[in-house]
Amino acid sequence: MNNKLVDKYGRQLNYLRLSVTDRCNFRCYYCMPEEGINFARRQDLLSFDEMLLLSDVFCRLGVSKIRITGGEPFVRNGIMPFLKKLSSTHGLNEITVTSNGTLSDKYQAQLKQMGISKINISLDSLSRDRFMQITRRDDFENVYAGIFKLLDNGFRVKLNCVVAEHKNIQDIIPFIELTRNHALSVRFLEEMPFNGSDGSQVLSDWNYRRIQEYITAHYAEITPLINEDSSTSVNYKIPGYAGSFGIIPSFSRTFCGTCNRIRLSATGELRTCLYGPPAANLRDILRSGATIEEVEKCIIGAVSTREANGFDAEAASNGATHTSMSVLGG
Ligand code: GTP
Ligand code: 5AD
Ligand code: SF4
Repeated sequence: MNNKLVDKYGRQLNYLRLSVTDRCNFRCYYCMPEEGINFARRQDLLSFDEMLLLSDVFCRLGVSKIRITGGEPFVRNGIMPFLKKLSSTHGLNEITVTSNGTLSDKYQAQLKQMGISKINISLDSLSRDRFMQITRRDDFENVYAGIFKLLDNGFRVKLNCVVAEHKNIQDIIPFIELTRNHALSVRFLEEMPFNGSDGSQVLSDWNYRRIQEYITAHYAEITPLINEDSSTSVNYKIPGYAGSFGIIPSFSRTFCGTCNRIRLSATGELRTCLYGPPAANLRDILRSGATIEEVEKCIIGAVSTREANGFDAEAASNGATHTSMSVLGG
């Protein structure tokens, strides 16, 4: 299919990250403060019909993969009928989901029936205490058990683990050991400045090199894997282990040159970079009575002005409030 979403650097945007809610039943320290954030009002959220319409537009323009994110996608009422409808979008080859793993249990059979078989779960520790410290919720056992149910039911599972000193360094090797007998992928993430609080956040200094060195010191042999095109993670395997692990340089951003992602927030903000400002609000454009052609034009326009890397160092250093990842859409 002719992709109309090609930026001036030749990057084809075929992967939409669609946030269906900014709400979450967790309070991970790296994502939002304990008291939460100013969650969007219901009327300001894109309705499911609006999301379906926009997804259709994106797919006609060249998107072939949609990842459902949040917040926590499964806290939004009506998510399952929405996914069912979304799965019949013309041109859409794959729907994947990123979840905190608390609520998807009861939906596993339905997800499978719709052809959704890849789920990424946020899990930062294998200890109940540390999990509670990180998420501010006591739900480790439920999430952990849910991961094995997903595997038993044939889902392809990736775990996302944000690495930080005094939080979960002692979990890195046990996470890799989890891949010895389980065919899942564990990805270690650098912390990013998106925690919904003021600019005083001190970021984890565990960057990808440090994580890699730490792991290398523990294993005599590590096999690099061939990464998927536009992959955010650099992937490895311990020889003989069933699963694999990866490191995501989410803050170092070594993968911008091949970035194929475009984002739509739960309130309709369109972003061509996680680190950049919204290029437009598609909810407002839709609700102003725009035609589909006008919406298409707006998306194509946003892509045509896409920067090589949307990171604004000045804004980042002036102490501005850091938007929560729950708002940005993971
Ligand atoms: P796959 O489709 O399985 O490759 O998943 P993914 O890695 O794109 O999705 P997931 O929701 O699991 O995201 C994992 C992490 O990758 C995010 O939390 C970010 O840390 C990082 N990430 C994803 N997209 C971007 C991006 O556009 N820029 C940056 N800097 N990091 C990103
Ligand atoms: N830095 C790095 N990763 C983050 N995530 C949420 N907030 C941050 C942050 N500030 C991760 C979650 C989830 C993924 C979509 O984003 O762990 O797995
Ligand atoms: Fe919820 Fe994910 Fe944010 Fe944690 S990182 S509070 S699970 S949205």
